Amino acid sequence: MIDEFDEDDQEKRTRKPLETARPATVAAVVCPYMAGPRGRGSDRDSQAKLEEAVGLARAIDLDVRLAQVAPLRQVTPATLIGKGVVARIAAAVEEMGIGLVVVDDKLTPVQQRNLEKAWQTKVIDRTGLILEIFGARARTHEGRLQVELAALDYQRGRLVRSWTHLERQRGGFGFLGGPGESQIEIDRRLIGERIVRIKRDLEAVRKTREINRAGRKKARLPTVALVGYTNAGKSTLFNRLSGADVMAKDLLFATLDPTMRSIKLPNGKGCVISDTVGFVSDLPTHLVAAFRATLEEVIEADLIVHVRDVSHPDTEQQRADVEDVLRELGALEEGSGRPFIEALNKIDALPEDLRQVLETRTATGAERARQYPVSALTGEGVEQLMNAIADLLGATGEAREVSVPLSDGATIAWLYRHGEVRSRRDDGETAWLTVALDEAAAAQFERRQQAR
Ligand code: GTP
Repeated sequence: MIDEFDEDDQEKRTRKPLETARPATVAAVVCPYMAGPRGRGSDRDSQAKLEEAVGLARAIDLDVRLAQVAPLRQVTPATLIGKGVVARIAAAVEEMGIGLVVVDDKLTPVQQRNLEKAWQTKVIDRTGLILEIFGARARTHEGRLQVELAALDYQRGRLVRSWTHLERQRGGFGFLGGPGESQIEIDRRLIGERIVRIKRDLEAVRKTREINRAGRKKARLPTVALVGYTNAGKSTLFNRLSGADVMAKDLLFATLDPTMRSIKLPNGKGCVISDTVGFVSDLPTHLVAAFRATLEEVIEADLIVHVRDVSHPDTEQQRADVEDVLRELGALEEGSGRPFIEALNKIDALPEDLRQVLETRTATGAERARQYPVSALTGEGVEQLMNAIADLLGATGEAREVSVPLSDGATIAWLYRHGEVRSRRDDGETAWLTVALDEAAAAQFERRQQAR
C-alpha cells in the first residue's frame, strides 16, 4: 500500500530508527551450526557464536527469551535447519509467545518463508539482523542512506505475498520485514523509485563529504580512524579521546559530524578522529560494498587504531575478522607506510594476573609500540595511547623535492595521502612537490619510482 512507503513517513523513520516507546519484541535466536569446516569462522565455538548473535539481537532491543544452537547434520534445502529442530522451535515459539526468530545464518527467501510458515512468526536471517544494527547505529546522513539502500535491495528480493494472516509487528526501519512484514503488499515499483531517489541523495551527500575532506587536507589535519569489532568500546574510547578537555572546538570541523571530531594531541598538534560502525564476522559481501563509503574515512586515514575488547574470550578471532574486512576494503595494505596500532581495551575487566601479563608483554615484548592496553571506561592507558598517536602522526621525515609527471595523477594523489605536501609548482607537464615523508612512506615511494 502506498502509505507503507510514504515519503514523509519514511523520512521520519530514517531519522529515528528505533522507536523506544514500543515494547520490545519477544524474540528467539537460533544459531545453525555444522561441525567441521564450513566457511569463515567455522572453528569458532558454536556457543560463543550463539552468544554473539544474542548480543547483536539485544543491541537492537529485542527481548531474547530463547537462544539455541541448531546442529546441522545434513543439508535441508527447504528450511536449512533439520525437521526435528524446526518442530521443537515451533513448540517453543507458540508457548513463549515469540514474535520474531533470528536465524544466525544466511537464508534464501524460500527458506525464510518456509520457516515463517512452520513457526507462524516472523523470521530474519543474519543479513537482516546486521542491517537492523547498522540502521540503528548509522549516525551520519550518508550512513543512514546507505543502510536504507541496502535494506531496500534486500527487501526487494524477498517480497512475496504469502503472509496475509500475520499482523504487522513493528516499525523501525522495516528491515525486520520481508514477507512477514505486514498484510500490505509492498509495491516493488515504489521500492525501485525510492532506491533511485536515495542514490541521487547519496551522490549529493558524497559531494559535500568530498568538499569537507578537501578542506581537512588543506588544513593538513591528519586523520585517525577508530575501527573494531562491535561492542569493543570504540564509541566509549572516541568520547574519552575527544572529551571536554581535549575537544578542540576552535579547530576546523570540530562539530560537523557526530562521528568525527577534531582534537588536540599532547604535542599541541591537531588531528581528526573518526568513529566507525562496528564490524561483525561473516559480513555479507554485498553489505561490505554498501558500507564502503562510510568506511572511506578508514581507507583515507593517516593512522588506524584497532580497538579490541581483550576481555572477550573470542578476542583473537574478532581481531582476525576485523583485519579480514579491512583487507577486503584495501585499508590494510602491508607496506603502505600507514601505521596500524591496537588499543587493547577493557583491561579493567581482566583478572589481575592476565592484566599483568598483557602489560608486561606490551611494555617490553615485540608488541611494544604496536599494542596499547587501555580502559576507555576508567581512562587508564589513554594518555599513553594519545602520546603514541601524536608520535606516529608527527613522524614525518625531512621534506624533499620530487617531480612527478602531471599525467601520473595516481602518484601525486599518493603523495598527498602518505606525505605532507608543503609546496607544489606545476610547469606544463611536471608537478614539483616539496613533501615530507616518514621512513616507511619514503621507502615505498622509492620502490614506486623504481617500478615505473
Ligand atoms: P558498536 O557501536 O557496536 O560498534 O560498539 P562500540 O565498539 O562503539 O562499543 P561501545 O563504546 O558502545 O561499548 C560497548 C560496551 O562496552 C558498553 O557497554 C561500554 O560501557 C563497554 N565498555 C567500553 N569500554 C570499556 C572498558 O574499557 N571497560 C569496560 N569494562 N567496559 C567498557
